[in-house]
Amino acid sequence: MDAVSEISSFQYDAEFFDIGSDRYLRTGELLTDEDVAVLKRKDAIYFGAIGDPRVKPGVLEQGILLKMRAVFDQYINLRPVTSWFPLVPLKREVPFDIHFLRENTEDFYMGANGTFGPGAGGDRAHVHVTRELYDLDIDLEAKSSNGDDFAFEIGLLSKRAVSRFAEYCCRYAESRGDEKVTLVDKANVITRNYGMQREIFKEKTAEHGLDLEFMFVDAMAMAMIVRPETFGTVAVPNLFGDILTDLGAQLQGGLGMGGSGNINPEGVSMFEPIHGSAPDIAGRGIANPIAAILAAQMLLEEQGFSEEGRMLHDAVRTCLDTGKTTPDLGGSMSTSEVGRHIADLVRSGRD
Ligand code: IPM
Ligand code: MN
Repeated sequence: MDAVSEISSFQYDAEFFDIGSDRYLRTGELLTDEDVAVLKRKDAIYFGAIGDPRVKPGVLEQGILLKMRAVFDQYINLRPVTSWFPLVPLKREVPFDIHFLRENTEDFYMGANGTFGPGAGGDRAHVHVTRELYDLDIDLEAKSSNGDDFAFEIGLLSKRAVSRFAEYCCRYAESRGDEKVTLVDKANVITRNYGMQREIFKEKTAEHGLDLEFMFVDAMAMAMIVRPETFGTVAVPNLFGDILTDLGAQLQGGLGMGGSGNINPEGVSMFEPIHGSAPDIAGRGIANPIAAILAAQMLLEEQGFSEEGRMLHDAVRTCLDTGKTTPDLGGSMSTSEVGRHIADLVRSGRD
């Protein structure tokens, strides 16, 4: 981003935040109210990868990443899956450019969970969830015939959250010139949630004069391999979106190629690579920086600097074309060498 700002009208100041596992292990703090208050005044957040084997799985994810998506109400998770030929592992050469729009605040990611049973807190459970759109309290009572203990995780969709998601997807499709929106779900099994979602998408796409295509998530996983070129704007609920976008990342050349935008169209958005912190290769200088760079491209575009975003995109393309990559893409350069090289390409205006 420094390189971009040197040669364009994009200018920025960055404030660095020590939000992550090191601070957590030192102070016990995750994303604090104070962090949120300060971050709320920023134009955008650029976020590094998260995950640390010293911390129990779930703590950082829920306390930092998912909390950030929820408190800033970043209800769209935009994850492009672009054919970065020749990295694409498909047998045939086919250009594709799928834009996944993953709903980012509800579904099975609500944390609406609990347990029942004699050894699991009794036969009543109270669930409380807080979102920007609402506070929701649910009381549950359970009677089982076998006296066993049970765990549950409720997947919730609210009409308003689905409506704004559908509206965004339609506008996004229009802005890309796509004639259809593909909605991925599992409405043949999870009938209530995804049935309601289908109805809302039908209404919205009709309003916008767009075609609507339904895909079950299992069939979608297959179709992404067999005919990725047939998809454009793809709307997907939170959990399935998590899974399909890892598949998508691999399809475009690996997790190291996936950028991700957590977008609140009226608020503060956050940009990050799709991948985690890859602790298994930490410190070796071989992590691919391109996913993080593509996240910066999305940040620039979302802030209205589409030409500047394109500069990053073109520099990445040149970098791939000339084999100046980290070992995961077959090259022999280190993380910082690739980063510096891409910055130099931006500065020299090559594309
Ligand atoms: C992602 C990640 C997160 C998610 C985890 C770390 C909570 O896998 O951004 O895709 O599941 O959304
Ligand atoms: Mn994921």
